[in-house]
Amino acid sequence: MKLNYFTYICLVLICMSCKNEPYEEIPSSQVGEFQNVLLDFTIPSNFPPLMYDIENNPPTETGFELGRRLFYEGRLASDNVVACGFCHIQEFAFTHHTHIVSHGVDGAIGSRNAQPLHNLAFKSEFTWDGAAGHLDLQPIIPITAEVEMNETFSNIIAKLQSHPDYPTLFQEAFENGEINAENILKALSQFMIMMVSSNSKYDKFRRNEGNITLTPNEMQGMELFQQKCTSCHAGELFTDGSYRNNGLAIDSQYNDIGRARVTGLTEDNYKFKVPNLRNIEVTFPYMHDGRFATLEDVLEHYRNGITDYDNLDNSLRQTNGVLGIPMTDEEKDRIIDFLKTLTDTDFIFDQRFSEF
Ligand code: HEC
Ligand code: HEC
Repeated sequence: MKLNYFTYICLVLICMSCKNEPYEEIPSSQVGEFQNVLLDFTIPSNFPPLMYDIENNPPTETGFELGRRLFYEGRLASDNVVACGFCHIQEFAFTHHTHIVSHGVDGAIGSRNAQPLHNLAFKSEFTWDGAAGHLDLQPIIPITAEVEMNETFSNIIAKLQSHPDYPTLFQEAFENGEINAENILKALSQFMIMMVSSNSKYDKFRRNEGNITLTPNEMQGMELFQQKCTSCHAGELFTDGSYRNNGLAIDSQYNDIGRARVTGLTEDNYKFKVPNLRNIEVTFPYMHDGRFATLEDVLEHYRNGITDYDNLDNSLRQTNGVLGIPMTDEEKDRIIDFLKTLTDTDFIFDQRFSEF
């Protein structure tokens, strides 16, 4: 995926120049159907602190609604079809179901598996290699990438300006009412930061809600997971936010070097962001290139499939030099039982985030 660095830098500057917009000055616009009222954003009690600077772009009813429209808007792409929601499908926690790597305009094939979208307000770096350092900047990558939406902001702005609804929607959502790159990105972020997934069985158990208990198998799986996986998939978001080499064999088709594409450091070769495991049951296929179809395949990789590298993560090298995480078949099944408790159907079927 190619990043247009000029656009990227311009947008960094735009975003920096609007950092000081005070929270209180958000107008309570009454234009049209929606009122520009602030939406309630509550941090779930078992979650880490917020990373998104929400006071600079607080989600409002109208901003969120505009963001939702834009997320499902084909006009953001050169073929007027490939919307964000084309690759990020809600029922699969906003991943591209069945697509090993994502497909963009004219069937162009990308090299990575679409990431799930949830709890983005709690992250500070985005994509598998951390190429985007702010959520407001992340959509520039898919919008401008040839293999994704292959579009320019000036074309998008022209298309939205001549649309019957968008001029009013932007008027309602933003004080200056302008259809520009900054407001497009802010609206998308308002929509995406509201996508909090925190109502899985596991969450309810953690928060002691309504007598929810884990079954003995799930409980045993949680203990095994804590012993074997939390050196990387740590905390309530199941990632420590680091980039690691988890021993996947080099993929000769793409030879994706991961984090090193961003840092230029050979020590970062083949390191990828430790992914969040929430809703993992529905986000198959797995890994940055979608190489594993099932969770069984993923667990088998950790047990028996580790490829050695100089920078292979130490937690995948046992003291006797053997590679991998030792697990019996039964232990693998228990871990999968636990991973399935992370599925949040409230989120997956939440009407607020759906296209219609
Ligand atoms: C052609 C398919 C495709 C389209 C269209 C697309 N994405 Fe993505 N998205 C991906 C892929 C693939 C990744 C992983 C990219 C990478 O690691 O380089 C991703 C990653 C992301 C991430 C990072 C998630 C994280 O946890 O780090 C966000 C946010 C995101 N997309 C939002 C959007 C938005 C907003 C749009 C519309 C403007 C969009 N995407 C359009 C495929 C797509
Ligand atoms: C050394 C750190 C590390 C350890 C230990 C580890 N993982 Fe991972 N895990 C990663 C990284 C990094 C990725 C992403 C790799 C990639 O796509 O290139 C990943 C990917 C995954 C995925 C795929 C996620 C997706 O969205 O595609 C699953 C599922 C997973 N790990 C489960 C586990 C389980 C279960 C354990 C314990 C048995 C475990 N991991 C142990 C670092 C680790």
